[in-house]
Amino acid sequence: VPGAYLIHETKIKTARAEPILASKTRRRIPLGTNRCDPFQSVARELELVERTLSRAIGSREQSLTDIAAHLIDGGGKRVRPAVTLLAHLGLGGKGSQDIVDIATAIELIHTATLLHDDILDDAETRRGKVSAYRKFGLKPTLVAGDFLFIKAFEFAGKFDETVVQWTADACTLLTEGEILQGIFNRNRAVTLDDYVEIVKRKTASLFQTGCKVGAYLAGAKPAIVDEADSYGLNLGIAFQIVDDILDVVGHATLLGKPTGMDLRDGNPALPIILALEDSVVREAFEQSKSGEGRIGEALEAIKRGPAIRKAKELSRHYAEEALASLKKLPASPYRNGLKTLVQLIIDRRF
Ligand code: FPP
Ligand code: MG
Repeated sequence: VPGAYLIHETKIKTARAEPILASKTRRRIPLGTNRCDPFQSVARELELVERTLSRAIGSREQSLTDIAAHLIDGGGKRVRPAVTLLAHLGLGGKGSQDIVDIATAIELIHTATLLHDDILDDAETRRGKVSAYRKFGLKPTLVAGDFLFIKAFEFAGKFDETVVQWTADACTLLTEGEILQGIFNRNRAVTLDDYVEIVKRKTASLFQTGCKVGAYLAGAKPAIVDEADSYGLNLGIAFQIVDDILDVVGHATLLGKPTGMDLRDGNPALPIILALEDSVVREAFEQSKSGEGRIGEALEAIKRGPAIRKAKELSRHYAEEALASLKKLPASPYRNGLKTLVQLIIDRRF
């Protein structure tokens, strides 16, 4: 039923994707001056997150700790904790253990979903290493995902009802995103609006929640908390669009995983959706038994056509929306960090 899945529609509006592509204006990210390394400005707090993560994954069962450490020590970018901390400090928060704990919870939830996601996607690699379930086995990895998820709530559950509810909502959205993505697997009926809805749930929800909770715990006014929320949501959408673009045009070594996986898996990723008019792409997307030759041809067809240019245009649109929300926050080095992060995400190669 069209629209039936819009149960958790946030009150923050994101623009519909179709009209953005129809518009003739070419977008530029007006970054300007005042660049500030987002990770450097919260380096002290991120170090505390690292220590809290290490503490969190200790278990009497060594295998749980080993599986969690395989991913947690495996070179994650820590973007979600970083935006949580930047939003908090940028709105007058003091970088207490509380904000470190909620940033840790968000990274733990993210890691739990990745352990489970690689099982669901049958992924061989993650972050340049063999995926956890291929190394440790499916059953222990499934339980390790549950373990991390519970650990996350040990950290998030001590906050007030609002924070607990927002964190729970993010987790609900992640699961609903996974299911919605499955509905559109190898399904040519998928639209741009469906894509944006999937991405809001499966990727943007944790960025959004991190920023919102960071702002709320800093004592920001509701209107400012909403702007932080909107920044996180739009940044998260831009992040996933770039991820999808890199799956077609990126370098496997830099990415730590093979390219072309969305097409092989029948994932409704943006460059594929934007190239569905091409019969070679459509057939490779719809048929699970496409050989490597067909996949290669379809990837070349996506690269030759307008899909990558259009996808980049959309990523810049959401990046601009994120920047527009940032303008409503008070100026600070942390806000400059959030601004620079938008550019880093748009420009990233891995
Ligand atoms: C990665 O997408 C997948 C997610 C970000 C969400 C996965 C969600 C679940 C497995 C539901 C479980 C939820 C909880 C709260 C434990 P992708 O496969 O497109 O990205 P990838 O290329 O990084 O694998
Ligand atoms: Mg996956």
